[in-house]
Amino acid sequence: MKYYIGVDIGSVATKVVLIKNDSDAEFIEGKISPTGSNGSFTAQKLIDELLKEKNLNIDNVEKILATGYGRINVSFTDLTKTEISCHAKGAKFIFPKTKTVIDIGGQDSKAIKLNSNGDVSDFVMNDKCAAGTGRFLEVMSHALQVDLSDFGKCHIESKKDTQISNICTVFAESEVISLVSEGVDKRDIIKGINYSIAKRALTLLKRVNVEEEVTMTGGVAKNRGVVLALEDLLKLKINIPDIPEFVGALGAALYAIES
Ligand SMILES: Nc1ncnc2c1ncn2[C@@H]1O[C@H](COP(=O)(O)OP(=O)(O)OP(=O)(O)O)[C@@H](O)[C@H]1O
Ligand SMILES: [Mg+2]
Repeated sequence: MKYYIGVDIGSVATKVVLIKNDSDAEFIEGKISPTGSNGSFTAQKLIDELLKEKNLNIDNVEKILATGYGRINVSFTDLTKTEISCHAKGAKFIFPKTKTVIDIGGQDSKAIKLNSNGDVSDFVMNDKCAAGTGRFLEVMSHALQVDLSDFGKCHIESKKDTQISNICTVFAESEVISLVSEGVDKRDIIKGINYSIAKRALTLLKRVNVEEEVTMTGGVAKNRGVVLALEDLLKLKINIPDIPEFVGALGAALYAIES
């Protein structure tokens, strides 16, 4: 039995995935933890915990490959790949008909186009400001005092459309606070916030010529409201993996097999 590990050190969360490869690759287990100030240390801790839980040790692991913004200078491997490649690889593994990937993480969002071989043919990134990213959602969650894990439920329960007109996170936060003080239902505000994220994603997707099937990866895909808003704007269904935040680490583990 051959085991491989993929590590994704993101700006918000570090994800570690263990897979085994006999004739086919098979997902075994994933672990996640806030990245904190030392991503390499966080990842090493998750690897140790994961192996211990599975009664394995590091000698059972053929290779480890790292991705994410913190992949440089990790202590446990020299093998690295970009997040673009790893999200594409992981998305294609879970949904083989994927042609377009949208990854919305904590700090940036990316639209990725795949060719018929599953290789990346084009991508665009929004990494210059927090608008359209998980950070924007985190700021709004704090301003509203509503947990991010409730944003999907609130979106579904909302009965009225509310626009968030400011794109800039700082101005949008003030706008949200004003709306709350005017007595607007928080659920309607949340729906507006989710649409704001979806509109930014749509802009990225159009720039790579979005084609079906579309798969969404990254932690923001756990927000059902953003998914529904983006499906509405795109007028098509989006594939959502069961564990969207682990797709980059899964892709890294799959690349470890090939390297
Ligand atoms: N349970 C949840 N419900 C809603 N949103 C969530 C949930 N868990 C995480 N998120 C969102 O996912 C984001 C983090 O996603 P992810 O782990 O993909 O980021 P990252 O890989 O660390 O960041 P980046 O790729 O930008 O470096 C958070 O900012 C938050 O908005
Ligand atoms: Mg990420």
